[in-house]
Amino acid sequence: MVCLGNICRSPTAHGVFQQRVESAGLAALIEVDSAGTGDFHLGEKPDVRSRKAAQQRGYNLSSLRARQVRSDDFERFDYILAMDDNNLRDLQAQCPAPLQHKLRLFMEFADNNYLSVPDPYYGDGEGFQLVLNLVEEAADALLNHIRKQDLQG
Ligand code: 4NP
Repeated sequence: MVCLGNICRSPTAHGVFQQRVESAGLAALIEVDSAGTGDFHLGEKPDVRSRKAAQQRGYNLSSLRARQVRSDDFERFDYILAMDDNNLRDLQAQCPAPLQHKLRLFMEFADNNYLSVPDPYYGDGEGFQLVLNLVEEAADALLNHIRKQDLQG
């Protein structure tokens, strides 16, 4: 899961998807991680507004720490999912050509009108609820996709 700062959207997606994976009993098969394209918040916990909004829905993001995308991520992960178009473009600029197929928008998996998770950082608190709504929907859809695409047979 990749966003700009790795303190709002991608840690939310990380925590929610990790919970979905654990509930499905698939934690031994699916590794979840998150990172930012930028480096301004390295080592920080998720934004307090993201942690609070997540906590209200039963997710605990406090153990996560921001890190930046690094070159071995493109080898290591099968799905590298950007929260918005800017994040996707930044990833495309860094990723080796043979691995570009791993790069997608996270919201592609959800069946709604959103293609990106809007950045909530500079907005009012409502943005954090929207992040959670979108992330929960896409996380469910992503798990269904992986079950069908990668875990059958
Ligand atoms: P995120 O949100 O990409 O969802 O983690 C942001 C966090 C920090 C900044 C921008 C977006 N920033 O400019 O510091």
